[in-house]
Amino acid sequence: MLTPWHTFAAICGKLVFVRTLITDSTDEAAEIIRRGGLVAFPTETVYGLGADVFNEDTLRRIFEAKQRPPDNPLIIHIADISQIEQLAHPANENAKKLIEAFFPGPLTVVLKKRENVSALATAGLDSVGIRMPSFPIANEFLAKCETPVAAPSANLSGRPSPTTWHAVLEDLDGRIDCILRGDPTEIGLESTVVDCTLDDPVILRRGSITIEMLREVVPAVRNVAAADELRRSPGTRHKHYAPRAIVILVDSPPEPRADAAFIGLSSPVEGWGFARFCGGVDEYAKEVFEFFRECDRRGVVTVYCRSVKTDGIGEALMDRLRRAAER
Ligand code: TXA
Ligand code: MG
Repeated sequence: MLTPWHTFAAICGKLVFVRTLITDSTDEAAEIIRRGGLVAFPTETVYGLGADVFNEDTLRRIFEAKQRPPDNPLIIHIADISQIEQLAHPANENAKKLIEAFFPGPLTVVLKKRENVSALATAGLDSVGIRMPSFPIANEFLAKCETPVAAPSANLSGRPSPTTWHAVLEDLDGRIDCILRGDPTEIGLESTVVDCTLDDPVILRRGSITIEMLREVVPAVRNVAAADELRRSPGTRHKHYAPRAIVILVDSPPEPRADAAFIGLSSPVEGWGFARFCGGVDEYAKEVFEFFRECDRRGVVTVYCRSVKTDGIGEALMDRLRRAAER
């Protein structure tokens, strides 16, 4: 058990008392991982909650800290492609092509797992999801951990994924040992997950690496069939990405309401209780989870989200918005 730290953090210009260590040092954060602690860290997609994948006690603490259902497997993060062989059996040709083209970056490949990877990390599956982030601070931190790092998104289960360090603190203060403080994440939506255990890769979760980008490298890539999604992509069984408010998807801007919030790609209109107008789909994707959190902080009860075209990252954004709107 690590000693809890007591410190103050400046959030929104206020000094608040926090129980989790907040550090800017990748050395300090990596040492905590090596000693068996839980560390949240920034990546280009969202913040992750990391633990040494070979330490079962700490893996258990990930599920406790997040209140995560045990049937939802973790993604294992690496600093170098050579670490894949510690985790998975040799990849097939298509998987190798995707790894070569998109690592490091916002792609998770699912491969056949080796026996030494704990069933706790993979939720009992015989496969393992592996990702090599491209964010420089994530890469530096992971290299210093000297072990692959299991890391789900660093939020309480069901809440929007954290794209800032203070969103991590909001959900997990006192429940984890350390937050490696970095910039807000660049993409704002979680990685594209591709099952590569069979010859033809199947997209299990959409992300900023789109099907078109994947097909340029491996033309056989396809989306998971709706009928197979729940079985093959355990993460989709659980409610995700949503604020506490009711989320309503709209194709055109509704009449502004003082008792509701709005996010979308349109020019500012007066009259919303709270609104976020984004300059493009990339900005919308980057901002949407923090917008949902801000709605919760303000006690908003209804949130209108304007739909976008499903090209580029628009497809992943619409996937998250639809899931947030499910009740
Ligand atoms: O961008 C990301 O992927 C972030 C950052 C931290 O890397 N991580 C993340 O982790 O979003 P999490 O735990 O929130 O989502 C993991 C997803 C779930 O949908 C899970 O079902 C899927 O990855 N997954 C992990 N291992 C899998 C496996 N062996 N087979 C099928 N799906 C798997
Ligand atoms: Mg998550």
